[in-house]
Amino acid sequence: MTGAPFQPGEEFAVAMDARDPLAHFRTRFYFPQTKTGDECIYLCGHSLGLQPKNASAYLDEQLRNWAELGVDGHFHGKTPWIKYHRLLAHQTATLVGAGPVEVVVMNSLTVNLHLMMASFYRPTKERHKILIENGAFPSDQYAVNSQIRFHGFEPPSSLLELAPRAGESCVRDEDIETLIEREGDSIALILLGGVNYATGQAFDMEGITKAGRRKGCVVGFDLAHAAGNIPLRLHEWGPDFAVWCSYKYLNGGPGCVGGCFVHERHARAWNLPRLAGWWAHEDETRFKMGPDFRPMAGAEGWQLGNPPILALAPLLASMEIFSEAGLERLRSKSVSLTGYMEFLLGQQPSPKFSIITPREPGRRGAQLSIRLPGTGRELFDRLAARGVVGDWREPDIFRIAPVPLYNSYQDVYRFVQRFSAAL
Ligand SMILES: Cc1ncc(COP(=O)(O)O)c(C=O)c1O
Repeated sequence: MTGAPFQPGEEFAVAMDARDPLAHFRTRFYFPQTKTGDECIYLCGHSLGLQPKNASAYLDEQLRNWAELGVDGHFHGKTPWIKYHRLLAHQTATLVGAGPVEVVVMNSLTVNLHLMMASFYRPTKERHKILIENGAFPSDQYAVNSQIRFHGFEPPSSLLELAPRAGESCVRDEDIETLIEREGDSIALILLGGVNYATGQAFDMEGITKAGRRKGCVVGFDLAHAAGNIPLRLHEWGPDFAVWCSYKYLNGGPGCVGGCFVHERHARAWNLPRLAGWWAHEDETRFKMGPDFRPMAGAEGWQLGNPPILALAPLLASMEIFSEAGLERLRSKSVSLTGYMEFLLGQQPSPKFSIITPREPGRRGAQLSIRLPGTGRELFDRLAARGVVGDWREPDIFRIAPVPLYNSYQDVYRFVQRFSAAL
């Protein structure tokens, strides 16, 4: 479907939906409704993915196990809780291009980020800086600043921020490499988003990892906006770690458990300092309750406590849908759907808005960020009142994401109609 020559009329959207091999997945999700009972135009999967209809069955199964088995549910029943998180290992690994030993589903993104930095941010007098995006997601900024201070350094001298050139919204790939080349010897950790939350820019993670490792830096990625959105080959690219959340493109539900990748080369790095908890202990001997901590090999060795089964159940439901749809097909539709939205918006040029997301499909995922200076917020509120669900990021960014798993070409068409009318 990639590269279809787009056409402006509604017939085109209808025809594209009719021949979309993924179109039927839409019926597997609940769409919120307007007050008048119409389906919303939901373009907010970059913030909270929709609820898969099979989520309640997965959840009910675990509630039933709890009711019927009580504590025995840990070791008995069809899906014993002791190993429940492992049901997600294979699909999660496939999703991020990793081996099962390299991934684990646990905690929230920010907690995982701290756990990773506890092991991988080891600043010295010569090499103490953390490189992040200028205007990185606030939680990352707070986490990074607190880690810098925790190690006795100060953000003004230890925080290095990557900014776009004056007058530009996105960072140029070559500027990232130049910065790493110039400052690399003092950088302890490069921590960038896979996809920037505000602009929707996808970074060249392979190039960044190569450049960073060449200079001896640890490389980590925040994949909150990348997981389930763009193709990832973490094992091959070789960053040291990555973290993500599961409530956006992965549809795991509000506050769902996040994910964590630790490259295989660290799987048995027992000398790395880490914050320990009993769920990371070798599972054969965990219940001997001994005093010595013997972590499992791989990402599971960074777990802390036992996982929240009731939060994992909807994620398992969603991952099964993901596996059925297949990442390659999803990406192909995503490139087409986002390109279509960009095309339609381009048919309505106006000085009142501009798209700040990169134009090249390889430098973005599903999200388009529309800059609406001045009265943009009012326009956003008007659209929201008419059943368009996107989100607003201060001071002037309207983010929308046509998600290939459940959005249609007609959603995109209707959105652009309403957007133009509201302008
Ligand atoms: C880029 C990015 N990083 C971090 C977070 C924080 O995630 P959590 O609240 O799950 O720790 C978010 C949440 O939306 C995010 O978008």
